[in-house]
Amino acid sequence: MKATLQELLVDELRDLFDAEKQLVKALPKMAKSASDSELENAFREHLEVTKGQVQRLEQVFEMMDMRARSKPCRGMKGLVEEGQEIMGEDFEPGLLDSAILGAARKVEHYEMMGYESAHELARQLRMSDAAQLLQQTLREEMETDKKLAQISKRLTKEASSRPQAGQEEEKSSRGGRGRSSGRSSQAQSRSQSGRSESRSRSETSSRSNSSGRSNGRGRSGGGSSGGARKVTDHEEIRAWAEERGAHPACVRGTGGGEDTGMIRLDFPGYSGSDSLQEISWDDWFEKFDENNLALLIQDRIRGQKSNFNKLVKRETPAHGRTRTARG
Ligand SMILES: [Fe+2]
Repeated sequence: MKATLQELLVDELRDLFDAEKQLVKALPKMAKSASDSELENAFREHLEVTKGQVQRLEQVFEMMDMRARSKPCRGMKGLVEEGQEIMGEDFEPGLLDSAILGAARKVEHYEMMGYESAHELARQLRMSDAAQLLQQTLREEMETDKKLAQISKRLTKEASSRPQAGQEEEKSSRGGRGRSSGRSSQAQSRSQSGRSESRSRSETSSRSNSSGRSNGRGRSGGGSSGGARKVTDHEEIRAWAEERGAHPACVRGTGGGEDTGMIRLDFPGYSGSDSLQEISWDDWFEKFDENNLALLIQDRIRGQKSNFNKLVKRETPAHGRTRTARG
């Protein structure tokens, strides 16, 4: 029988210890599944933060003269499984990001409640050092959730201005690719034209500019959906960004010394100014070329100016990773 607050705290700590370790495994997969570069980066950053949280829990156990032991956290297991389920579903990339974000925020809230309980127990037990450590983690989880909420807001806004699956995209999948298919349900056209088609189109856009057919610009002339295109030309990138009020930036804490760190484009009102730091275009392009990057951009979506962008490798099959076109 558990009879003391201390036992309750130990129970909570073991649960959290297991939860954090599950996340250390899950976060790289979540980052890999994200299409949006800011979201991917948020997951990668949170992975590092989570590793620190595991160590912090070890410290708390040490303060209690106990060996750090975990107890299977079923709650986190369920949340992680739900996240995996979502990642395995057919979504248009922007929507997949929103779905993953929803799952990730549930995780953050679950953790926040765990740390809140543990912190309160430690405080009641007058274990001020332990309480301080637990509060530090609680703050980190809250910050992460805040950042995810901001990204979620932006992605939802972007998704609402995109053509709905089965409309514009359906036409392009029929006319452009000649992929044979026996199925014709709407779900089919959604999965092919949404995710796979937009990806394969973006992959070919840099190669097939002359044809004009799969080039984002060519499409946008029609005022409907524009395919993403890969650009490496500095002037073109700069003009595209400046037209949208975006600034060259790097992710705080990723560089050091002479190194600029991870580069990003910072759009007004989009990314937390706390995570991005403005840098010069010269520094930005230096890193851009050094890392052999290309910028995948979309000019317009449904006639509206699009801020969609993603840094990808210049010469890789697909754009860098993960899914391939099916069918
Ligand atoms: Fe955590």
